[in-house]
Amino acid sequence: MDIAAAASSALFLSFHGFAVTLVPMRFGSLTLNSNLFLSPLAGYTNLPFRLTLREIGALDLATTDLINARSLLEKNPKALKLIETRPADQPLAVQLFGSVPEEMRDAAVQLEAMGIASVDINMGCPVRKVCRVGGGSAMMTELGKTSALVRGMVEAVKIPVTAKMRLGWDDENLTAPDLARALEDAGVSAIFVHGRTREQGFSGSVKLHGIRAVVQAVKRIPVIGNGDVTTPQAAKMMFDETGCAGVSIGRGAFYNPWIFQHTRHFLATGELPPEPDFEERVRVLCRHLDLMVEIFGETLGCRMFRKVAPWYAKRFGPANEFNKQVVTLSTRAEFHALLDNYRQWRRQFLDENGQLKPGYRPAPMVASFMPEPAVAQRTQIPAPKGPVEVW
Ligand SMILES: Cc1cc2nc3c(=O)[nH]c(=O)nc-3n(C[C@H](O)[C@H](O)[C@H](O)COP(=O)(O)O)c2cc1C
Repeated sequence: MDIAAAASSALFLSFHGFAVTLVPMRFGSLTLNSNLFLSPLAGYTNLPFRLTLREIGALDLATTDLINARSLLEKNPKALKLIETRPADQPLAVQLFGSVPEEMRDAAVQLEAMGIASVDINMGCPVRKVCRVGGGSAMMTELGKTSALVRGMVEAVKIPVTAKMRLGWDDENLTAPDLARALEDAGVSAIFVHGRTREQGFSGSVKLHGIRAVVQAVKRIPVIGNGDVTTPQAAKMMFDETGCAGVSIGRGAFYNPWIFQHTRHFLATGELPPEPDFEERVRVLCRHLDLMVEIFGETLGCRMFRKVAPWYAKRFGPANEFNKQVVTLSTRAEFHALLDNYRQWRRQFLDENGQLKPGYRPAPMVASFMPEPAVAQRTQIPAPKGPVEVW
């Protein structure tokens, strides 16, 4: 879709020179109340995190971690836990991976019967385990086979089927525009595109022109841009430079669970809301832990929280005391004791107004694709360590 066509197919509001796509937007039969999305982050975008973000607001469609279609059909308890949801967690998309057309189709049918709003197909995952079976990024390399698989899913369900991809395998093979066009013909309702190649992993810059090429390749369906959006300004730049219909945010929501609300406000008014203060961050952190404990039980919930809490702490200022202790967390009571200790320790970095003294404030977040001469440009935002680090 070219930019002009995108503009005429959606309602635009011009405010202080800001061209803002007005919600609602549509994914096939599904009407959405926000064009800001939560990207799937395996190990993180579980029910407690989604509920935490939704309570803050401005997030509508969120996607689960990727789920193996076969495991879902086999009713594997881990797969079923990954799709656990509640009325407050709607609308929800479940992301499937797999390369057996019948399994992908049947899993989509099962999800529709369970009331899931939308099914997303993972075509971007570069992890060997996923590519080896022909899923994830491997799907970007086999257009005909991938289209046939997608068509089978689209014909089997009424809910939207969407696809999430990278720009291509490597710089020599930027297949996303061709793939997007083929998938549109096969009936997908929207495309999510992370503006990096598989080869890039998470390094280097997100290529906005690559996302723009995907926007221009399709005729009718919305393209949702993704990659390194950690601030409202970065979201606006992605909209402006690519003509995408929506922006999907992953790691930015770890650092800043307010990002959806702040981006919506910024897009509508041109004003940037102030960063939440330490106490507000702690409030949301505690709410997140309560939900982890409620949904996973205290032992597992606290263990899982060990890797979540340090993301919040990245915006606390000095946090080594917090991070050192949180990695051994096993009960909620321990967490509150830890927090009390940390508050005491952190006081040495505060001025008389309770604000961090200048040299201790965290540097502003800057997306890889944003030229900001006033601040050192961040070429990479960290990805959590572990088997998913090359997602
Ligand atoms: C820890 C981690 C897990 C991820 N898991 C998934 C996944 O399950 N499915 C998927 O399509 N992408 C996954 N991704 C990729 C993200 O959805 C997203 O495309 C990428 O992180 C770029 O967006 P961001 O900069 O907003 O995080 C994962 C990324 C990370 C860092």
